[in-house]
Amino acid sequence: MRKDAVYVRGIGGLLSAPPKDRLHRWSLIFLRSKSMTNAKRIDGKAMAAACSESISARTAQLVERTGVKPGLTVVIVGEDPASQVYVRNKKRTAEACGFNSVQHSLPEDSTEEDVLSLIDELNNDPSVHGILVQLPLPGHLDEELITQSIRPEKDVDGFHFQNIGMLTAGHLDGAFVPCTPAGCMLMIEEQVGKDLSGLNAVIIGRSNIVGKPMASLLLKANATVTICHSRTKDLPEVACSADILVAAVGRAEMVKGEWIKPGAVVIDVGINRIEVDGEKKNKLVGDVNYGEAVEIAGAVTPVPGGVGPMTIVMLMANTLQSAERVACIS
Ligand code: GUN
Repeated sequence: MRKDAVYVRGIGGLLSAPPKDRLHRWSLIFLRSKSMTNAKRIDGKAMAAACSESISARTAQLVERTGVKPGLTVVIVGEDPASQVYVRNKKRTAEACGFNSVQHSLPEDSTEEDVLSLIDELNNDPSVHGILVQLPLPGHLDEELITQSIRPEKDVDGFHFQNIGMLTAGHLDGAFVPCTPAGCMLMIEEQVGKDLSGLNAVIIGRSNIVGKPMASLLLKANATVTICHSRTKDLPEVACSADILVAAVGRAEMVKGEWIKPGAVVIDVGINRIEVDGEKKNKLVGDVNYGEAVEIAGAVTPVPGGVGPMTIVMLMANTLQSAERVACIS
């Protein structure tokens, strides 16, 4: 990836993919399908590092010109170990980008009123440009009530119905796009360009956080989009029609090699911990059987080191965008 081609302007403007016309893209897929081995490993970690550098530079400019320093506040309720790791990574990245990074850790038995009152405070704090409530929340808390209480203009997760509505209507400039699909989209653009006309995209998983917003982004880029889920008939066959396959189901290595069209771009959103025979440690795997996928796909994201780092950096891009809006230099 060319480093000088990296710049920030929300989703779609964060990484400018080298221009590739349609013919080029088709020949790329054809060539990959001919070799059918050694798919390109999409290095999410390297892409995220490049984006992060760009965000840091732009943050420094913002601070120098306006005195506005992007502020990201993360709220975590309870002790879920995986969430603790994610939140730590977000804090570390925010600090590396030059943000004001604050974490509020609330006890497991916090009431809805406790969380809502904290969000109200953050909504009204002008130094806070982005608020994220780490999910999942403990079972007694209403996730929807809590995520919808964040002001849309500080909803850097892109979960507020106003942001979802804007994205669904195709108004990407005005919306915060959910971070995981935003990161996936940049990785797809880097492989096949920005215009996905004539390409079939299949998403496995219909969650509000990944599957549905991913569909909106792919549709906006002119792909022909199918969303599959647990009730889909002949899932392997549908998956096999995909030039772009996004797996976001949370089932370890569910997508097999024979589900993949030769030359396809495969984006693996899953993060699943599995036990390894004879070893004490667990291992992280995606929703795609990576070993089989690399034999047939054109390009595949690994787990770890694929979508995960891009998700975090998209959160930073959204927070910077929010701060820029406040400083009126978007
Ligand atoms: N938990 C897992 N992924 C996410 C995410 O993207 N945002 C929040 N808030 N919580 C999560």
